[in-house]
Amino acid sequence: MITQQPIGIFDSGIGGTSIWKEIHQLLPKENTIYLSDSKNAPYGQKSTQEIVNLSIKNTEFLIDKGAKIIVVACNTATTNAIEYLRANYKIPFIGIEPAIKPASLQTQTGTIGILATKGTLNSALFEKTTSSLNDQINIIEQVGEGLVELIENGNIYSNKMTLLLKKYLTPMLDKKCDYIVLGCTHYPYLLPQIQKITGENVKIIDSGEAVARQVKNVLLQQNLLNNSNEVTENTFYINKEADVLKSMLKDYKNSTIKFLNF
Ligand code: DGL
Repeated sequence: MITQQPIGIFDSGIGGTSIWKEIHQLLPKENTIYLSDSKNAPYGQKSTQEIVNLSIKNTEFLIDKGAKIIVVACNTATTNAIEYLRANYKIPFIGIEPAIKPASLQTQTGTIGILATKGTLNSALFEKTTSSLNDQINIIEQVGEGLVELIENGNIYSNKMTLLLKKYLTPMLDKKCDYIVLGCTHYPYLLPQIQKITGENVKIIDSGEAVARQVKNVLLQQNLLNNSNEVTENTFYINKEADVLKSMLKDYKNSTIKFLNF
């Protein structure tokens, strides 16, 4: 039955597991396959063509594994490649984009911050979204250079991370941002540290929950929700050492990690 086939999810690395967790929480009866292309992370500094090529490779891997829908759990891959993927594959795709629209609607100070990769901030799709916002809204864009590498290497709580976060967030605070958008699926893992720097009055938002809701809506519309009561399988493929991934999934007993030469 196609409904029992897995939801396929990919990211440049392990950060997209923040999206997998939202999807799994909302849709616990779904089988999932996650592909972490950690060997090629970060995508954020690569050209659009390189990001498209890697996204094609990831998509074909997930289709080969029987995915019924693909979630591009990477802002960089979504903003650079989803148009190409939708035009060239029949399977439904759900992407993730920085939540600057909701931030712009809720800000009281009129200034919002966005932390994302260079690839996301420079993309045509991001440009299109920002130009559709109320032009009274002031957006402070910041490339989170180095953050993805530190997360991939398990240095989430390092001094270097604290220093980088202070460097990137202080200018936003100085300019009175009251909303900061996390525009990279790796960054939710930094939330406690970010909130410590910004204080409780600044709201930190991301698009994880909205993506999970969108996955559910599309599965519902297309009659693809898994109604079987069999135990679900959640398989994670990774093409680099899996220690950090393992620690991120330690609370999920029904997950299996497999090494992939990819
Ligand atoms: N998780 C990816 C994103 O959401 C990280 C990008 C990268 O590999 O640089 O953009």
